[in-house]
Amino acid sequence: MVLNGPNLNLLGQREPEQYGSESLQDVEAMCRTFAEKEGYSIDFRQSNHEGVLIDAIHEAGVQIKAGEMLGVVFNPGAYTHTSIALHDAIKGAEVPVIEVHISNVHAREAFRHNSYISPCAEGIVVGMGTFGYLLGMQGLIHKKG
Ligand code: DQA
Repeated sequence: MVLNGPNLNLLGQREPEQYGSESLQDVEAMCRTFAEKEGYSIDFRQSNHEGVLIDAIHEAGVQIKAGEMLGVVFNPGAYTHTSIALHDAIKGAEVPVIEVHISNVHAREAFRHNSYISPCAEGIVVGMGTFGYLLGMQGLIHKKG
């Protein structure tokens, strides 16, 4: 699963100096092409709602336990910096997550330096632009061994 949090539906028009000019549809197409080349299919999602993201993590947990999914490449957007509920969902559902941020959050405002997701992530990709999603996917495939 490739899961995207709030405001990422605005990718391409939103602060292009931070996030680039590609739309979320472009990112989805790029992820799909990469996954298919590696022999996988992807479930690509975006929501502006914390509860919907939590439900998606729970769903992923069920599919992972059934051996039907590798894990989740997750850009939680601003919920990264606020959501104990997403932290708990990842831990509770035992979901291998690679946290992805398009921008280098550590070079930005102090309120972006803390992540509630990082302590329960398998890996983190920061500041590599939308290419970070592919690095995240590659990481999940690599970790599977
Ligand atoms: C982001 C970084 C967050 O701080 C921000 O709130 C976002 C996008 C990124 O991809 O760089 O919405 O997760």
